[in-house]
This record gives sequence, structure tokens and C-alpha cells, in this order.
Amino acid sequence: MKTTPFIKKTLKFFKNFENDFIKNIIAYEAIPSSNIKAKELAQKGAEEGTLVITKKQKRGKGRFNRLWESPEGGLYLSIILKPNCTPDKTTLISLLTSVAVSKTINIYNLTSKIKWPNDVLLNEKKIAGILLESEVIENKVEYVILGIGINLNTDTNLLTNDVRLISTSLSEEIGKPIDFHYFLKNLLNNFNKYYKIFCNEEYNLIIKDWKNQSDTIGRKVKIKTATEQLIGKVIDIDQSGFLLLNTNKGKQKKITSGDCTYIEI
Ligand code: BTN
Repeated sequence: MKTTPFIKKTLKFFKNFENDFIKNIIAYEAIPSSNIKAKELAQKGAEEGTLVITKKQKRGKGRFNRLWESPEGGLYLSIILKPNCTPDKTTLISLLTSVAVSKTINIYNLTSKIKWPNDVLLNEKKIAGILLESEVIENKVEYVILGIGINLNTDTNLLTNDVRLISTSLSEEIGKPIDFHYFLKNLLNNFNKYYKIFCNEEYNLIIKDWKNQSDTIGRKVKIKTATEQLIGKVIDIDQSGFLLLNTNKGKQKKITSGDCTYIEI
């Protein structure tokens, strides 16, 4: 693999990075998707704390099989995790990651918010997305690929029209370029802190911090799950991070996963 300034700088960053969680870092100039690459490594037995990072992606994966547009300027990484938990608890990993991302953005004196389950928004536009892919065999979590995409120094004009209209980037919000590796350091430290809390099963602390950063509770929403479409008011999230919805049909529903759209401010 050819060494480029991005790869060189990232490997140097990692050499000087004191963090007891990230064990290996593999950096690329351009790959189809860091989640796909991390999955290949996990299948070959790569250890927890292996980090795949790339300057751009050709076919970044978003939730619900959407494309995650990944031009140069964004931050695209995937971490291999091997949590000792039941499959129903893995939703909490995506929630805690959204808290870590949101807190990292807020270092820049901004107030980002989380839309359930894990979209990070700034001024009501999407700035980061999280894609969690779990390998579960016989109800045991073998590994989890945690993918994080952040519009850091992204020129949103490079995004397709539909995506651009609902997206923003950190550099565009604060009007100057963001130091990529400074952001990365803070992000990994914040993630490490919350992942430790998760491993200690202190789920209530994750839920509490997620609720503090979230603006979904109390909203009227439309939720698309794999099997149905629901409209209702969000009442709360439970200890597994599942959404509790009072539907317009007068029922209370627990949503484990789905696409959430606000229909009223
Ligand atoms: C979403 O749809 O909101 C989730 C987007 C997740 C994108 C990230 S970018 C790094 C990692 N690699 C991928 O292919 N996807 C995730």
C-alpha cells in the first residue's frame, strides 16, 4: 500500500496517542467502506480495538442500505468491538457513540443534538451518522463493527442535492477548518469513556447522557420499521435504548430499530 501524507500523519498520531482501548490502526487513502474492511478483519480474528480509518470512501454504507456520501474532508472510521453482552444491548453501543460524537462536537462551543437512535444534528441538519453491524451466532455477539461518519471539513457542495439540503459540516458551521487529528483524539477518548461505562453495565448513565443530548423525546414523529410505519409522540427511551411511542392509534409501542423523522417541531 502506498504511503500518503494522510496515512503518514494518522500513523504518527496513533504512535503518540495514549489510549488503552485502540490496539491497532489501519489507515487508507480510499477504500469502498471502512465497515466492510473492518468486517473482513474481524472475520479473520482481528482483536477488539482495531480501528480502520480512511480519507474517503467510494461506497460508504449508511443505515437502511443507503449510501453514505464520503468525499475527502470527512472523518470515516470503523472500530471492531467484542462486547460481552446480549444482542439486545448492542443498540446502546450506537447510542453511546452518538453521545461521544455529540460531546466532541460541543468542544467547539456548539450544541449538537441527537435524533433517535444515533443521528447527530447541528442546527437541525445532519453532521454525523453511525452504523452498527453485529455478528450474532446462537444469541452470542461475536463482534460488532462500529462505523462513524462525520462531516468534519466536508464541503457540503460536494454532496448530492438531496443529501446536501439536510446536511452540514463542522467547518462550515464554525467558519474555519477543523484539525482532523485533534478531533479524532477527542472523539476516541470520549468513545473510550462511554464504552467503559457500557462494559461496566452502567447503562443508566448512558441513557441519562443520551437524553441530555437528545431532542427526540416529546416530538411527534414518523417511524418506519422493517414491517410497519407508525405516527405518534415519543414518550421516552427504555434501558436498552428502545423508543417508546404513543401512536396516533392510541397504542403504546416499543421500537427496537427504525427510521425516525420529525413531523412537527
Ligand atoms: C447513517 O446512515 O446515518 C450511518 C452512516 C455511517 C457512515 C460511516 S462512515 C464510516 C463507516 N463506514 C461505512 O461504510 N459506513 C460508516
